[in-house]
Amino acid sequence: MDEKIFERVDNYISDISAQEDKILSDVIKSLAEENIPQMSVSANHGKLLQVLMISCNAKRVLELGTLGGYSTIWMARALPSNGKLISLEIDKHYSDVAKRNIKNAGLSEKVDIRVGRALDILPTFIEKKEEPFDFIFIDADKPPYTEYFELAIKLSREGTIIVCDNVIREGKVLDDNSSDEKVLGVQRLNESLRKNKNVTATILQTVGVKEHDGMVVAVVNRLSK
Ligand SMILES: C[S@@+](CC[C@H](N)C(=O)[O-])C[C@H]1O[C@@H](n2cnc3c(N)ncnc32)[C@H](O)[C@@H]1O
Repeated sequence: MDEKIFERVDNYISDISAQEDKILSDVIKSLAEENIPQMSVSANHGKLLQVLMISCNAKRVLELGTLGGYSTIWMARALPSNGKLISLEIDKHYSDVAKRNIKNAGLSEKVDIRVGRALDILPTFIEKKEEPFDFIFIDADKPPYTEYFELAIKLSREGTIIVCDNVIREGKVLDDNSSDEKVLGVQRLNESLRKNKNVTATILQTVGVKEHDGMVVAVVNRLSK
């Protein structure tokens, strides 16, 4: 099959329901200008994040991996006026660019970007008994995805939706002999879902303007804490 069809259909869908305005296209431009890799979600996936957020009445959102703030802006736009989004980013340069983009989007009041390693920051939220998040988007480095997912559950309430991006990796997850640390990281998370009683989860396979990939979509069950 002509793979261009996936791209054309993705554009058809975004034209209907996920049109990028100048603020969002300027984020993509800012990445090119600042020599930052183009690793943002697609417009359709930004919209999917909004749909999922609204379905769980999300007022408090946590993101792992800000990059230039593209997905952050999609999500912050779906927050109610008293909503809050905390986004974690390890790279100071990326976080500075993201802060500029978020200011440009008029969302600085709602978005709090924290710079540091997600694995260092998340346990501090648990220690401080941070109020549970309603929606959590995991899109940082892949090797500790299982640990991120477990920490995310600890920071959730019943009904919290957790999304983990890039878990299919052009089908490389099927390779049992892979030595790619990103593939190994997502294989470990995907496998852990088999017996994870704390969530009701699926993996959505995705094609479109970005490479063939997929995302975990999980809803947190009633937790016995
Ligand atoms: C795929 S990009 C995020 C894209 C962004 N969510 C979007 O769609 O616009 C992954 C980001 O995670 C950040 N990152 C990598 N390792 C991290 C870590 N240990 N803690 C926090 N952020 C990390 C990277 O610097 C990069 O900006």
